[in-house]
Amino acid sequence: RPGAAEWVPAEADVDTLRRAAHDCHGCELWEPATQVVFSAGAVGGRLALVGEQPGDQEDRRGVPFVGPAGRLLQKAVAEAGIDVADTYVTNAVKHFRFTQAAPGNRRIHQTPELAHITACRPWLVAELQQVDPEVIVCLGATAAKALLPKDFRVTKHRGQAFSLATSRGPRTFLGTIHPSAVLRTPEPDRDAAYAGLVADLRVAAGVLA
Ligand code: URA
Ligand code: SF4
Repeated sequence: RPGAAEWVPAEADVDTLRRAAHDCHGCELWEPATQVVFSAGAVGGRLALVGEQPGDQEDRRGVPFVGPAGRLLQKAVAEAGIDVADTYVTNAVKHFRFTQAAPGNRRIHQTPELAHITACRPWLVAELQQVDPEVIVCLGATAAKALLPKDFRVTKHRGQAFSLATSRGPRTFLGTIHPSAVLRTPEPDRDAAYAGLVADLRVAAGVLA
């Protein structure tokens, strides 16, 4: 698999990147998916939220975080004191990876492999270079694998802001759980999982303050 690099236009703004991504065949995920799901939100945003990959609803609508996980995330971001209008939202992998027992059956989410994360990473790097947020929040292990050091573990290092070198100079990064992990947490622990996500996002808010 070639990876996305040959489809990523150099020095292009986010709208140009978004348009170019429609043609990407950097890995095999483009084929069964409905469409590429690029990013949403403020291109001048001071905070970027990086998810895993589009889900079922995102794949149908072509917009990231419009399903249940997205609704939970939006609530958590607001509760953490972050202005939603100041956030840029994207995913580490831009096509929905799923399995389906038969056509017409429910599509079941499959976690992207390291090969997909690596293949798609040139889009993520290019868009973040354009947006140049002050703080980048990785939601879950997939986004962390795309952007954070190899030894980063969500369980161990979540909620810790640290500085990493980027092509624009040092920027603040932070990893936390994915909002889908909150939704998957069985009661009676779900409220605590949600509060943990909000607490981590508050750390990011504190950096911006
Ligand atoms: N989960 C993600 O990681 N991204 C989305 O866009 C939707 C759900
Ligand atoms: Fe290209 Fe990423 Fe889609 Fe793979 S997942 S085809 S690299 S946009």
